[in-house]
Amino acid sequence: MPVSEGMIFALIDLKRADDEGLAVQLTSQLRNLIATGRLGKGSALPSSRRLAGDLGVSRNTVTYAFEQLAAEGYLETSNGRRPVVAIDGGERIEAAGAVAPSVRSGKPRLSPWASKLRQTDWPMSYQAPLRPLRPGHGDFREFPNEIWARCLRRSAVRAAKREPGPVNRTRLREALAHYLATSRGVRATADQIMILPSAQAALTLIASVLISPGDEVWVEDPGYPGAAAAFRASGARVTGMKLDEQGMQRMPGLAAPKLIFMTPSHQHPTGRLMSLARRTEFLGLSRPGGSWIVEDDYDGEFHYDSRPVPALQGLDAHGRVFYVGTFSKAMTSDIRLGYLVAPSVLVSTLEIAQRHIGLIASSHVQEALAEFIGDGHFLAHLRRMRRLYHARRDHLAEGLERHLGDVLSTEVPSGGIQLVARLKRGRADRAAVKRLVEAGVETRALSSLALGRPPDHGLLLGFAAWRENEISAALRTMASCF
Ligand SMILES: Cc1ncc(COP(=O)(O)O)c(C=O)c1O
Repeated sequence: MPVSEGMIFALIDLKRADDEGLAVQLTSQLRNLIATGRLGKGSALPSSRRLAGDLGVSRNTVTYAFEQLAAEGYLETSNGRRPVVAIDGGERIEAAGAVAPSVRSGKPRLSPWASKLRQTDWPMSYQAPLRPLRPGHGDFREFPNEIWARCLRRSAVRAAKREPGPVNRTRLREALAHYLATSRGVRATADQIMILPSAQAALTLIASVLISPGDEVWVEDPGYPGAAAAFRASGARVTGMKLDEQGMQRMPGLAAPKLIFMTPSHQHPTGRLMSLARRTEFLGLSRPGGSWIVEDDYDGEFHYDSRPVPALQGLDAHGRVFYVGTFSKAMTSDIRLGYLVAPSVLVSTLEIAQRHIGLIASSHVQEALAEFIGDGHFLAHLRRMRRLYHARRDHLAEGLERHLGDVLSTEVPSGGIQLVARLKRGRADRAAVKRLVEAGVETRALSSLALGRPPDHGLLLGFAAWRENEISAALRTMASCF
């Protein structure tokens, strides 16, 4: 039904935003009213002053929307006169196919990929500011920004002399190949290393290249939701494997799947180390023609109690293991750099996919990072953070035992940036998380990381990003909430 001029404001529903956000929303909603025929050709809109008053927004916001719609041909405007709808939207735009049927129904028909991603219970980014003890973060306040700024500057200045070159910069690939061989036991040539904006990008790339609808993928349960989401969105049937003291367990009676995702160095979320026997068992499934293995070593740089166990990739005799890493934890999450060490036979296909999906990291930043690593700053930063995070892990674990020992049982990981504290009684970790968040302590419910089986209940608590006094304050708050 056509809308009268005086009622237009009642059909506009603006969500709180800055002026620019409001202007974009208003433009889009007016465009929709015209495109769907509710504002017919020749209808006059209210003046910008009146509409701004009715909507409670600034006049500039309305003027922006009118000018934009005039530029797109939806409105005719002339000085001093109210804008008039210039087209007969309802019939003509639809007939020309310019408005998809989904615009009329208001519900876009998503691809299976996007629909599956939308069903995932995983916050891609937190809207609220970082609060203690949010898991998954290193301490960005300790990052040597001055040194990093010098590397970035030199990289930018040198750009004029550099060939606009390969997507995966040779210097960084070489620096990483050396670092990963010496510190993590990864066996790879530089050209097996792909530089990506994140570890999550590596998982998306692998899923895009290997997964067909219906393929079986095994993941840890509880596990990292980002991995399950990436594989499920590509059409995989994702099955969770139980954990025990040795890490992920193979469920008896199942045939080898297409792909196995695991975090053997510090299992996400428990921090457990996968035993050598288990590693060997899973590698046994990954012979040619068998499963591919994705080893996610997201925080393998941080180990506190003994020398780190080398990467599983280094034990792979058949070229079936992908090794995924990220600088989000070791440096700062805003750096947006991760990497994938790929089996040789897949490198060229992955590079084609990388270009097509556009998962390409800035050359300036890649060159800066090559220098940061090459000049020893990366290792120096890791050494400093290891000492700091080690003390913070102990501080949190001891505090949990002292203040909350009767309600929580803490599993102290040998490395990493977070730990799990299980509820000793009850199965209400989500309610506990809600209470804690309201009191100013942010944690993740262990049950929210479960895949299918009846979940354990507990809290995933970050320790690396928080100073000891911040951890102490958070512990006091926690004690008052239980
Ligand atoms: C186990 C695991 N893998 C990968 C990632 C993603 O890292 P990135 O930020 O590089 O995508 C995370 C992030 O928290 C993680 O916990």
